[in-house]
Amino acid sequence: RVIRLSEYAPYPFTVESLDLAFDLDPKATRVESTLKLSRTGDSGAALELDGEDLRLVSVAIDGEALAEDRYEATDSGLRIAKVPDAFTLTITTEIAPEDNTKLEGLYLSNGMYCTQCEAEGFRRITYFPDRPDVMTTYRVTIRADKGVNPVLLSNGNRVDAGDLDGGRHYVTWEDPFKKPSYLFALVAGDLARVQDSFRTRSGRDVELNIWVEHGNESRCPFAMESLKKAMKWDEDVYGLEYDLNLFNIVAVSHFNMGAMENKSLNVFNAKAVLADPETATDADYAYIEAVVAHEYFHNWTGNRITCRDWFQLSLKEGLTVFRDQQFSSDMRSAPVERIDQVRSLRARQFPEDAGPLAHPVRPDSYIEINNFYTATVYMKGAEVIRMMHRLLGEDGFRKGMDLYIARHDGTATTCDNFAKAMEDASGRDLSQFKRWYSQAGTPQVEAEGRFEDGVYALTIRQHTDPTPGQDTKHPQHIPFEVGLISRDGAALPLRLEGEPADGEAPLTRVLDVTEAEQTFRFTGLEAEPVPSLNRGFTAPVRLTAPWSDADRALLMRYDPDSFAKWEAGQQYATQLLLNAVNERAAGRNVAPDATRFVDALGTTLSDETLDPAYRAQMMALPTEDYLAEQMPVMDVDGVHAAREALKRDIAVTHADLFTKLRDQHRAAAGPFAPTAEGAGHRALANGALAYLTTDPANAHLAAEQYDAADNMTDRMAALRVLVELDVPERDRCLTDFHDRYQHNELALDKWFSVQAVAARPDTLARVKDLMSHEKFTMRNPNRVRALVGAFAMGNPTVFHAKDGSGYAFLADRVLELNSLNPQIGARLLQPLGRWKRMDEDRRKLMTAELDRILAAPDLARDIYEIASKSRQA
Ligand code: ARG
Ligand code: ZN
Repeated sequence: RVIRLSEYAPYPFTVESLDLAFDLDPKATRVESTLKLSRTGDSGAALELDGEDLRLVSVAIDGEALAEDRYEATDSGLRIAKVPDAFTLTITTEIAPEDNTKLEGLYLSNGMYCTQCEAEGFRRITYFPDRPDVMTTYRVTIRADKGVNPVLLSNGNRVDAGDLDGGRHYVTWEDPFKKPSYLFALVAGDLARVQDSFRTRSGRDVELNIWVEHGNESRCPFAMESLKKAMKWDEDVYGLEYDLNLFNIVAVSHFNMGAMENKSLNVFNAKAVLADPETATDADYAYIEAVVAHEYFHNWTGNRITCRDWFQLSLKEGLTVFRDQQFSSDMRSAPVERIDQVRSLRARQFPEDAGPLAHPVRPDSYIEINNFYTATVYMKGAEVIRMMHRLLGEDGFRKGMDLYIARHDGTATTCDNFAKAMEDASGRDLSQFKRWYSQAGTPQVEAEGRFEDGVYALTIRQHTDPTPGQDTKHPQHIPFEVGLISRDGAALPLRLEGEPADGEAPLTRVLDVTEAEQTFRFTGLEAEPVPSLNRGFTAPVRLTAPWSDADRALLMRYDPDSFAKWEAGQQYATQLLLNAVNERAAGRNVAPDATRFVDALGTTLSDETLDPAYRAQMMALPTEDYLAEQMPVMDVDGVHAAREALKRDIAVTHADLFTKLRDQHRAAAGPFAPTAEGAGHRALANGALAYLTTDPANAHLAAEQYDAADNMTDRMAALRVLVELDVPERDRCLTDFHDRYQHNELALDKWFSVQAVAARPDTLARVKDLMSHEKFTMRNPNRVRALVGAFAMGNPTVFHAKDGSGYAFLADRVLELNSLNPQIGARLLQPLGRWKRMDEDRRKLMTAELDRILAAPDLARDIYEIASKSRQA
């Protein structure tokens, strides 16, 4: 069944309050739910509640049990045709957390009870109007065995507790803030607590707890510090304070995604909380800092103000991702963060926007909402907010946020209302801009420059290809930052024709591109400049510009915009590599001359005025996926070969530089500390290592680094290059890693992944072997992502093996997950949807696997939706 935005209708009842009582038991948990309801819609409307996988025990209205003919219970809900206008409804259901392998609703993870209710998990706990616009106050009592479950948590304040007969006890929680059911949470178990506190700027003392499995206490301080930084940052930057005296985070081993912002009881994938130097990489630390902040920021952008319906998901997610990106930029290096954001936007969102699953930031229909927690809703959604921030400026945006909060606090609202607040606060017309919410697909922007009589005319054309269900596209409002650079590297003033010739002209400016074609004329120039375009990646577009190699080298060297400087290097490498792939495909085996690029790269990497983390970004060539994505028909083997060849070319030319950089920055990194600065040194040193070991004779460098490492970043960097090589150190280090970390689940995940991404002919066989490793299980999403996900999404050459073995392997895993955990299955299957971009043989193999999935009995909604959309021609 397809759900459509156009069919939105308010719920005809208001839930005045909700009282929940849980009697926890792995096989038979009793849930008693008491709702005070009053009619706000049609007088005749039946009461309809959502419910799934529930055993209904009893229903009563105003204390009187209903006879079975008064209601209708189906596998999707409960319907009571005749109800009074105001009444109390009491429902008792029974559920089996132990059998819940979908990890939605109430389930067990290593003996700990936990919940995941977003988007529609609450209906797997009890019958309820499980939709975000039904908000109410919750009072929750949890009863459980005191020995097994000494800790009982839910949202809000702990208002009562005590002992019960038979070794049981109870705790009652009350959340004073109204919330939708997706923000409900319950956690129970034998947990260790790491405690701290934070005083808000108005003097509220907040108790902060991180709850973990025993033994993990020492792995929490970094997350705790991140939380305090995030709390402070939101006060400083947005004036937003925490609103209760208690904030809990719980780390859970089995979790479908990163983390969840339940009011005052955030539940996290252990991966997004736990870190120690021995087992967490710099990237893990940065991820933890960002996720902790993200979930905390949701308290205002998500919880206090939530979504009217799930089509508005980006209202909270796009905005909260933007806020966590701003936070990370303030905590770390802003230019390096921006490059990372664009890298992942291109790696995940651009392909989505160009494929069979393309959808707008505010989708207009879905079959399974879990499938819409996408790169588009999150990352492109964040880019949309970033563009508004750019259009309105820092102050204008802040005024808009203040107005948004003043207007909508305590309610469930829409993306339109967010944009309206921005418009009203700033006086800026965003009507055309709002197309970014409704139009799918990445705009293609083409720039062309013409110099004549001291005038540089920059013509910008935009165009968006059709996407499924959207044939015609309209021009978008694109904020497009540009600069002009002279041939000798100077930044030139930008004076638009018609502007007074006196006074200072800016060296960079944001153009409002609003039409299909537009020309901007810059005056007062002595010679033809080189344009620097889409600086800072102000707009999430694909750009083509007629830059010569010399222009690109010039921008790499002189562009004062650090993003555009990096981008010049990336686009230069992309062009060279795609030419090389085409040459190879045409049977000519001479790669185009890369000397000028390799030299320019050497100059940048040697420039000590540039931050090491930034140089590490310059050093990394575009990924194979990115390169293949730029081709009409992806040549994965050709891309791999060309990229490896260029890597070797660079390594040979700059061997001395890499040795020097590595030594210098290993020394500069010093003893491990998880700081952005240290991470920068390690990134640069390890980038150099990757180049140096393109010569297998240097494998010993990696092996020595592996042995000597005092941190996981260096150890993994060494292992990552070793797994590609046929040297004895490979097996020795892999075995060592396993033996060292076999009892640490998060570290062990890295061991599974690193083997799955090796571009070797024996990788698939190895992955299959690993499926029968005693620590492998399809029931832990982290483990599935570590092995199967890493293989399908991080190993293009082996996944796309010509015989189709990679595809068949993936389809088998998807079918296994169909009954176990369809949400994870649906995510995993997405690489098969890229078939249209492959050669004829691979197309056949990929579509055959999609057909096999579609023919399976009892296909879950999640998997059906992705497979059927992916299959469409
Ligand atoms: N709201 C959570 C977050 O972004 C993610 C929830 C994902 N839920 C889902 N069903 N995939 O912080
Ligand atoms: Zn979120």
